[in-house]
Amino acid sequence: MRTVHVNASTPYDVLIGEGLIDRAGELTAKVVKPCRAVIVADDTVDELYGDRVQISFSYAGFDVSRWTFPAGEASKNLGTLSELLEELAGRRVTRSDLVVALGGGVTGDMAGFAAAVLNRGVRFVQIPTTLLAAVDSSVGGKTAVDLRAGKNLAGAFHQPSLVVTDTDVLRELPAALRSCGAAEAIKCGVLRDPALFDLLEGGDWLGDIDEIVVRCVAYKRDVVARDEFDTGDRAFLNLGHTFGHAIEQLSGLTVSHGEAVAVGMLMAATSAGCPDDTVLRLARCLRANGLPTHCPYGAQALAGAALSDKKRSGDTLTLVLPEAIGRCILRKIPVGALEDWFARALAAQERLAL
Ligand code: GLY
Repeated sequence: MRTVHVNASTPYDVLIGEGLIDRAGELTAKVVKPCRAVIVADDTVDELYGDRVQISFSYAGFDVSRWTFPAGEASKNLGTLSELLEELAGRRVTRSDLVVALGGGVTGDMAGFAAAVLNRGVRFVQIPTTLLAAVDSSVGGKTAVDLRAGKNLAGAFHQPSLVVTDTDVLRELPAALRSCGAAEAIKCGVLRDPALFDLLEGGDWLGDIDEIVVRCVAYKRDVVARDEFDTGDRAFLNLGHTFGHAIEQLSGLTVSHGEAVAVGMLMAATSAGCPDDTVLRLARCLRANGLPTHCPYGAQALAGAALSDKKRSGDTLTLVLPEAIGRCILRKIPVGALEDWFARALAAQERLAL
């Protein structure tokens, strides 16, 4: 088992290793005295792992119950959150109790937000079961639900007390979910870690998954330690997201987040004039990981969709631009210039036959 310590306003450990899901209760009991614990999972994950996690927490002395909701991003809304909060309150969950988020990003974000607001803050533990949640959303304390006006618009910063990542669970993921998480891991490689990028490059990295998760979490740990509340450097984690968000929107959400981030990263690189050999290397890496490299939309439509992001404020936006594998910069641009950035990326896409 490997440990990454996150030095946030509430410090905690991220534990990464094989077979941890059956030890989640015992590992949690080292940081949270056994109490009432509610395991929150979607119906798919509950079916796969709910019994094992419940047994593990019961065995460690917790008074455990479970609450499930229908799988999918469509559940991540105020309606489901309200049901969850009523349920937690009805089960008399207090500030000395525990919420256990068992699942991917939807579950972690929503259960974490419920824990943040119930009784003005209940402790919670993250047990990520997707690669994307393991390398990104389970760490750093961002919790939220979607509003009709956009994704993650209602939320809070609330750090977990512990993150327990079982890499055997990640190894069993279906290919599409693995690719989605790989996009976020490749993102960390492009941002800071060329050795991580090397590990991911061939697409055949299941044997190195512990090392990959540790490296991504260590990177996120460093960013969160510098900028927990997202007022500066945490923006680096948005690499590929401005371009990708536009693709996700225009596809009517049929393109997954990971696929959109993959194409978005490539567009960020080409629009910034990143050298062709670096761009082609990134494109090969994305393809080897089952991810797309081609954007089928025009610059005007992309700029319109990117600018519809309700979280954007003011007349400028910040792009994250790769200069090399392992080195990116932040660049503030006027919103009116965004269409030109998309146009440059699309011209490079055609020239390089991406
Ligand atoms: N997933 C981006 C962040 O945690 O800031």
